[in-house]
Amino acid sequence: MKKTIIAAIIAAATAAVACDRNSDPAYKDASRPVDERVADLLGRMTLEEKIMQLNQYTVGDNDNANNIGEAVAAIPATIGSLIYMSDDAVLRNATQKHAMEDSRLGIPILFGYDVIHGYRTIAPIPLAQACSRNPELVTKCASNSAAEAWSSGIDWTFSPMVDIAHDPRWGRVAEGYGEDPYTASVFSAAAVRGYQGDDLSAPGNIASCLKHYIGYGASEAGRDYVYTEISRQSLWDTYLPSFKAGVEAGARSAMSAFNNISGTPATANHYTLTEVMKNRWKLNGFIVSDWDAVKQLVTQGMAADEREAALLAFKAGLDMDMVDNVYCKCLASLVESGDISEREIDESVRRILKLKFDLGLFDHPYTDIIPDSERILQPSARADALALASESMVLLKNEDALLPLKGQRRIALVGPLVDDRLNLLGSWLGRGKAEDAVTVREGMNAEFANADILYSRACDFENDDRGGFADAVRAARASDVVVYCMGERNFWSGENASRSTISLPAVQEELLKALKATGRPVVVVITAGRPLDLTRIEKDADAILYAWQLGVEGGNAIAGALSGKFNPSGKLAITFPYTQGQIPIYYNRRPSSRTGSQGLYQDITSEPLYPYGYGLSYSDFVYGDMTLSAENVSRGGKITASVDVTNDSAVDGMETVQWFISDPACTVTRPVKEMRHFEKRLIKAGTTETFKFEIDPDKDLAFVDDDGQPVLESGEFRVSLYNGDAKVFFLK
Ligand code: GLC
Repeated sequence: MKKTIIAAIIAAATAAVACDRNSDPAYKDASRPVDERVADLLGRMTLEEKIMQLNQYTVGDNDNANNIGEAVAAIPATIGSLIYMSDDAVLRNATQKHAMEDSRLGIPILFGYDVIHGYRTIAPIPLAQACSRNPELVTKCASNSAAEAWSSGIDWTFSPMVDIAHDPRWGRVAEGYGEDPYTASVFSAAAVRGYQGDDLSAPGNIASCLKHYIGYGASEAGRDYVYTEISRQSLWDTYLPSFKAGVEAGARSAMSAFNNISGTPATANHYTLTEVMKNRWKLNGFIVSDWDAVKQLVTQGMAADEREAALLAFKAGLDMDMVDNVYCKCLASLVESGDISEREIDESVRRILKLKFDLGLFDHPYTDIIPDSERILQPSARADALALASESMVLLKNEDALLPLKGQRRIALVGPLVDDRLNLLGSWLGRGKAEDAVTVREGMNAEFANADILYSRACDFENDDRGGFADAVRAARASDVVVYCMGERNFWSGENASRSTISLPAVQEELLKALKATGRPVVVVITAGRPLDLTRIEKDADAILYAWQLGVEGGNAIAGALSGKFNPSGKLAITFPYTQGQIPIYYNRRPSSRTGSQGLYQDITSEPLYPYGYGLSYSDFVYGDMTLSAENVSRGGKITASVDVTNDSAVDGMETVQWFISDPACTVTRPVKEMRHFEKRLIKAGTTETFKFEIDPDKDLAFVDDDGQPVLESGEFRVSLYNGDAKVFFLK
């Protein structure tokens, strides 16, 4: 205690000396360099004030302006950050005013929130966005999300979630960009750019947060929060790349994950938090824990009590503690006992203060109060969400070119998702509201204004009531074509939403059989947050449009795809198993020691139902033979692969050419193929486009060893296309 008093006296004295009697203290002088302002402020802070910066509480859901005073009073004026659970800036500004005026130094609060795929204008879920293969559009929608969030008082989003996942039983597969490290890296960077813009202090830009660091998607058996067995090799070549890409794009924070990484939980893992993320990658920012994750080190069996949990997490490199108050309770005594030095505390506080200065919070702590009509659900934001939705859908089957629907005058529109709004928004719908979403029925009414559309909800998502089947069958018999909208509820995926089966409930599959039995062609539209087991559905459906969870414009996107207004262009960012008995199944697997039928399932196929990268179009894209600019490439040189793609149809369409690299002999065995480049382009009907992949050995042929060191070995390589066309070349 004595030390604290002495420290406080020294800090006050330092402040007095440093403070020019005739002006504000240096940290309040916007003309000074940020690092100077941070150093000046740090020098004035007491240990207690520093420790409060390392804590995050919550505030919000306060929809009664009259009791704002109570909510604000409950918040310590020196708290570092708050999760802001409200969507106007009034409460936020009142809380910020409390921090600026009721504390000794007036350090602004950093307000964070889960803006995962939209704040109020909800875009498609990230797994769908990755299928769009359109990073520019993802950046645009992330920028729109940031603008809405910023105008509501949010400075920082806990996004993008860039966990690699191979198990669709895991509910959070919906939130990430799928199974491929390269694809996830492209979209990680795209989202960071969208949230942060070019100037973090500019209006409408917010700080991003790469999560969940690291390996959360490897949760055993798809169960959330559990152990993950991750070798150092897999850590580097599978799980770290998407985080590295985000750091290189300028992400200002990361969030430690709940999972236990092969015995050392992510929240207290010095190797990943400090050696990799801070020392090697030089994160320009700080690391926050996930919710209660410091305290959970006790339940995970790493810490005997909260004090030990605080020590282990802090010493490992975790800067900010989310809501469990363990840092608040324990850090001061850990400094007192000498387990942690004040200099170490300063390093974490410095990272947080720097972001607050870079965001401009010291100079502009308050959010302008702007009417909702001028800042949320703007037409341009909805238009961008529709564009992204239209490119995120994946056409899985289209027997006899049933789609797009042309000339069918009578359409039976059937199923639990026909009139649904909420489930189109996905599991992390932020401040989104069901009322904002366009239903499939509304979209179809608008898009097929001249058709007779017969509706029948027919069944619920998952109960045994088949009483509506007869009505649906009647509608089908009275129609030329059936559109059956089936799928998941939004909360069946997301956090703590692991499922033991990826099949849809029996009632939904039985309805499909009943519709099929009418002899009418059936188009199945599936809304879901994960890959589902479609093996039985595939047999009964004439066409399958996988619509994921498309957000507020879901109904318009789906109707537009069925009418041909949108030509589906999505490519799967995650493998669809033939059956869940194959899980985990992913495209970039290591080669087996056996070939032929050995090592395969003896009772079912070992191939997925739909592989990574699969997706049909209404156009007919014909690939020419790939050519190579040379047979050999030297280090420092380049070799270019080219292919002509012809749109041999009467329908303009967008095609993504997907390029893969294989290294058949390598001291660290490589996957059978690894995506290294993709390019999406519009190809007008009847025209041909040439696509190129300029291979840079250091970027495209090197791999990393189990400590992340790049390794480039000479020898044979193969470059291949999704259609299997491959060419051999040699690195000299
Ligand atoms: C949750 C999630 C994390 C989220 C955080 C704050 O538990 O795991 O993704 O950002 O808490 O809501």
